[in-house]
Amino acid sequence: MTLDSNILDQLHAYGQSNLAEHWQQLAPAQQATLGEQISQIDLAEIQRAFASKTATGSAENFDQLEPPPAIRLNDAKPMISAADAYQAGEELLTAGKTASILVAGGQGTRLGFDHPKGMFPIGPVSEMTLFQIHFEKLIARSKRYGVRIPLYLMTSPATHDETIAYLESQNYFGLPAEDRHVFCQGTMPAVDHQTGQLLLSSADSLALSPDGHGGTVAALANCGALGTMQQQGIESIYYFQVDNPLADVCEPLFLGYHKLSQSQKSTQVIAKQFPEEKLGILAALDGKVRMVEYSELPTELAEATNEQGSLRYWAGNIAVHAFEVEFLQAMVETADSLPWHLAHKKVPYFDATGNMVSPDQPNAIKFERFIFDLLPSAKNALVVEVDTATTFAPVKNATGAATDTPESVRAAISALHRAWLKQCDVNVSEDVPVEISPLLALDAEQLKPHVAKIDEITEPTLFS
Ligand code: UTP
Repeated sequence: MTLDSNILDQLHAYGQSNLAEHWQQLAPAQQATLGEQISQIDLAEIQRAFASKTATGSAENFDQLEPPPAIRLNDAKPMISAADAYQAGEELLTAGKTASILVAGGQGTRLGFDHPKGMFPIGPVSEMTLFQIHFEKLIARSKRYGVRIPLYLMTSPATHDETIAYLESQNYFGLPAEDRHVFCQGTMPAVDHQTGQLLLSSADSLALSPDGHGGTVAALANCGALGTMQQQGIESIYYFQVDNPLADVCEPLFLGYHKLSQSQKSTQVIAKQFPEEKLGILAALDGKVRMVEYSELPTELAEATNEQGSLRYWAGNIAVHAFEVEFLQAMVETADSLPWHLAHKKVPYFDATGNMVSPDQPNAIKFERFIFDLLPSAKNALVVEVDTATTFAPVKNATGAATDTPESVRAAISALHRAWLKQCDVNVSEDVPVEISPLLALDAEQLKPHVAKIDEITEPTLFS
């Protein structure tokens, strides 16, 4: 059969002889299933990506690296005033020209939670889930401006069905049906870390992993979302990640800076506190803004300081972006050629003797694309500094880890809401958890009338 010999030729040509042998031993129905999967993947690309594993160090020359064009907190002479930006952001929202993208795919391996990350209970008092917090923030923002703000929610094959079932059971927290679009990201096969052989997850299935948040552009294009946004007159998108409950969803100041600077892609950053902090930084190279991962940044640059004595490469990425829809549309083809980042992970696999193996050490390479690799292609890319305490507390790791645990994130939510209460002249002891439902207030100002008669909080309290 032509199909069979094509597959076999391809497998041999790209160094996948083990898989070719395995395939030949399968029953016809299994051959068809596995053959279909194999025909969907680009074997040459996988071979190329795996070969890049042996490249040593960064190929980049960072001698000319500069701090990026930025709006900094406490900047005496910012290139755009906060008042102008806030107004422009509010105008954009009021005109119904904004949508949001929430990425909730991936596998959440570090957190070790058996469900999609978005279902993780994070509210310090309410135990509401990450999804509920994000959906309610979006609904509250949309009410404030009397406008629809569509949500495009990206899942992965591992999280898709359970996410939909959960959100259905919660009636999408009240987000209208016409404003919610759930779409699934693509996948890439995982390979053995030593040999580059494709791994199987069963006799007739490859071990597939989500293709990284850089897969967002292709997935948006594939499901027709970019066209829909353009038809609806959406110009700008607020992009955020499911694991950060402090993301200030569709916040007007950031959108306004993005708009007024005519940036095609803007990124929120926080000031790095110390050279070894594990945050990728945004910087400019040859006039283009780009991300440099912390592992890529040479120590002498990580430690370099400016005239004021603070870190020269200061702009730590927190993965909140604003995109122009037009830019994403133009990037559909470029996104398909973004580099693959290799992650060394534990991947269970079906071995040559027909048994499933669950390795206790990393045994595989997974390939991922990252959304920030679009940055160098963006015109007027802008970096906007935000305050960590108000904007960034990602839940990445399980209880007991040093950072970004459920406990540290709950404490960060409580601390922010305690600060709002203090701004409203309500005293709260430092050790008392407090939480404010997004539907009640998105900031201290909105909270004020609801707590006018309260002087002090002495026990865990949810304001809703
Ligand atoms: P992370 O890089 O923290 O990955 O994702 P992860 O899969 O959640 O967790 P680990 O690394 O396995 O422990 C950052 C954000 O990007 C989304 C995640 O849902 C999270 O919101 N993401 C990540 C995707 O949507 N797809 C991906 O392929 C990877």
